[in-house]
Amino acid sequence: MSRPTVLVARAVFPEAIARLRRHFEVEPNDDDTEYTHAELMRRLRGKGGLLATAGEPIDAAMLAAHPQLRAICLMTVGYNNVDVAAATRQGVVVTNAPGVLTETTADLGFALMMAAARRMSEAERFLRSGRWTKWRYDLLVGSEVHGATLGILGMGRIGQAIARRGAAGFGMRVIYHNRHRLPPAVEAPLGARWVDKATLLAESDHLVLVLPYTPQNRHAIGAAELAAMKPTATLTNVARGGIVDDAALAAALRERRIAAAGLDVFEDEPQVHPALLALPNVVLLPHIGSATEATRRRMVGVAVDNLVAALTGGAPPTPVNPEVLPLLRA
Ligand code: DGY
Repeated sequence: MSRPTVLVARAVFPEAIARLRRHFEVEPNDDDTEYTHAELMRRLRGKGGLLATAGEPIDAAMLAAHPQLRAICLMTVGYNNVDVAAATRQGVVVTNAPGVLTETTADLGFALMMAAARRMSEAERFLRSGRWTKWRYDLLVGSEVHGATLGILGMGRIGQAIARRGAAGFGMRVIYHNRHRLPPAVEAPLGARWVDKATLLAESDHLVLVLPYTPQNRHAIGAAELAAMKPTATLTNVARGGIVDDAALAAALRERRIAAAGLDVFEDEPQVHPALLALPNVVLLPHIGSATEATRRRMVGVAVDNLVAALTGGAPPTPVNPEVLPLLRA
């Protein structure tokens, strides 16, 4: 029987390609070219599996054009780029990489929140520009992190890990809003209290967004929400672009309706709204929440595990649509 052929849509660690080659014919993308929709359509021809990131839009048309496709395995935890409903209808398993990036992304989220609160990027730019001539009582004063109120919108794994850092390390009061309230046994060690969204916006000194992107969450933080925040508050987004209305955020920052922001994700990334680029009170990062070598290796490793299992009759460890697994094995 001929071996399945798989497409690796982006560059990955060479070891991952070597592992895949033990099982499959592999078409890698060592140059890390970002395939257009048409190019991805073309390259998927005849492929049984796809290893991809959260950046390749895999829509219903692409799925329909490739009835031979059995598995889409993402190295990211987010999978809002895949039409999972269409994949499920077609019996294609979709997998992501949950769990392995939780603590790393929480580290970055907390650091970004601190950088925004303590004006670190602005301070470094000030120093590098040669404008630092003396210590002064009000030079680059920011806001307290320890003892402040940490608000988390989206209290999944990463939200809880950020809450843990705030509560245990910084004595922060933790409030959160989530569709579902967490069980008391999960809330208690975090000292976390569920509040409605209006209370979260009104009471947070530092609001961190960690909710998954869905069409319903688009612009969950827009002009009205920003207006409901404290003028001294910071906003940090390590979730997905599009959850925040970037233009509205830029206006709120410019008019000091909130104090500062830390952003790792953007509505139209890698394009960053020019109004944000022009502001001093926002820390901007190029989507590096999970970017440590160890974590990126784990993420790719999970995607490879899933792809090998899916196409060799095994059980993919982290399916997003487990209901298709019986079809896959049939
Ligand atoms: C994820 O894993 O979803 C990160 O945001 C990287 O895209």
